[in-house]
Amino acid sequence: MRCSLIELPIFETKHGAQDYQYGIVTILIVHSCAFAAAIVLLVDLLVDDQSGSSMLLNPKEEPMEEDSISHLAEGKDVHETVKHSDSAMDRMNMLSTEREDENRVSTVSSSEWQACNYAKGRWVADSRRPLYSGSGCKQWLSDMWACRLTQRTDFSYEGYRWQPTNCEMPEFQGAEFLRKMQDKTFAFIGDSLGRQQFQSLMCMVSGGEEMLEVEDVGEKYGLAIPEGATRPDGWAYRFPDTNTTILFYWSASLCDTEPINITDPATEFAMHLDRPPAFLRRFLPQFDVVVLNTGHHWNRGKLRANRWVMYANGKPVSDRRLITVGGAKNYTLYSIVRWLDSQIPLYPQLKVFLRTISPRHFANGEWNTGGSCDNISPLSKGSGVFKDESTDPVAEGAVRGTKVKILDITALSELRDEAHMSRYSIKASDGINDCLHWCLPGIPDTWNELIYAQL
Ligand SMILES: *[C@@H]1O[C@H](CO)[C@@H](O)[C@H](O)[C@H]1NC(C)=O
Ligand SMILES: *[C@@H]1O[C@H](CO)[C@@H](O)[C@H](O)[C@H]1NC(C)=O
Ligand SMILES: *[C@@H]1O[C@H](CO)[C@@H](O)[C@H](O)[C@H]1NC(C)=O
Repeated sequence: MRCSLIELPIFETKHGAQDYQYGIVTILIVHSCAFAAAIVLLVDLLVDDQSGSSMLLNPKEEPMEEDSISHLAEGKDVHETVKHSDSAMDRMNMLSTEREDENRVSTVSSSEWQACNYAKGRWVADSRRPLYSGSGCKQWLSDMWACRLTQRTDFSYEGYRWQPTNCEMPEFQGAEFLRKMQDKTFAFIGDSLGRQQFQSLMCMVSGGEEMLEVEDVGEKYGLAIPEGATRPDGWAYRFPDTNTTILFYWSASLCDTEPINITDPATEFAMHLDRPPAFLRRFLPQFDVVVLNTGHHWNRGKLRANRWVMYANGKPVSDRRLITVGGAKNYTLYSIVRWLDSQIPLYPQLKVFLRTISPRHFANGEWNTGGSCDNISPLSKGSGVFKDESTDPVAEGAVRGTKVKILDITALSELRDEAHMSRYSIKASDGINDCLHWCLPGIPDTWNELIYAQL
């Protein structure tokens, strides 16, 4: 029998860390291998390290993304297969979708804006934001990220859009997006912040309105829920009128990972720094737009919690450049970008974006030592980005000279410390602050608008 994954649906949840106790219980009942997994989990909790990764453990990958916080918000995986789950996909409300295009700014010629830098610009108040309601979009938006469903009472962070200094920014229109993506597939691959961007795009395209005709096509991409698991490795949805598919695949490191000893339930996982995830290698020919991200899983605590062992050239890493986590991450980004750059000529329709790191805003501590992000006043530290170079030099360096584009959101997102989940969640959770993930609607919507402008 396959002792595969068990994940803890639990953690994922909308309820955050509190559920973690009964998450363990859930696991015990869910799967025959659950017991082993639960033991592992407990051990991990006991032994934990400072990074907080311990709360979650996932051999293949830690569920959370980026920072420990994430496990609070997103849940944890215990074994290899399952990762995140989403619960509420039922009801829906809506918000009107149609917006006029009066915001169009066309001050530059089209040849100029092809080459313009979307990362330079400023946030401006816009009464036509947000693009969908955070009380709606229940078909795709996880409750845990819908700040409108929490005790938070100030939503001023929803009312801004990003205006690049030298680029044309068309107003996002769901129908127009689908028209441009007719018969095409849009793939997000990354961690929980990639998943946020995926949910954001689903809500933007639908305007937060229920679209019962949208089909779940996860099975076509091997994203069905594995037996005994509660969550898939990703999600894929097809809009039938335009035959447009939007999907998300969980790969927190953008490395291919595989168990070192497949018969050992407590096996470590080889994390192949120079090999793109198998999912990407397999499905790339079917993709038209790919948006990659990674970042917050690159620390010793996460590597240990996921039982990842770094490999290069099919062997455990011995190269001194790769011994540090930063060096390994850099090498991974260079490797995947080079591979994609070699593939793009084979698929002329393909556009690939590497998203730069999403900034965290913990002040006065880390996620697990009382850090918080309590400011609620938008743009209190300024509204503009003026420099030419990226605040994420590793991503910028990796794409330089290649056909992979940068989606440089780091500096513009840095200005938005008030737009994280902060201390709010569906259930009150004392002392737990998420200054990593963003409220939705919110900042990831802007990231998608920047891609839309470049389609
Ligand atoms: C939908 O688009 C895909 C390409 O993404 C194409 O292979 C397929 O034939 C299309 N299906 C229909 C029904 O047009
Ligand atoms: C793999 O794991 C199994 C079960 O723990 C163990 O019996 C076996 O010796 C391991 N194989 C290797 C090559 O370490
Ligand atoms: C990242 O890797 C590239 C290619 O190996 C190298 O040229 C660059 O110096 C590295 N940068 C850092 C910050 O390690």
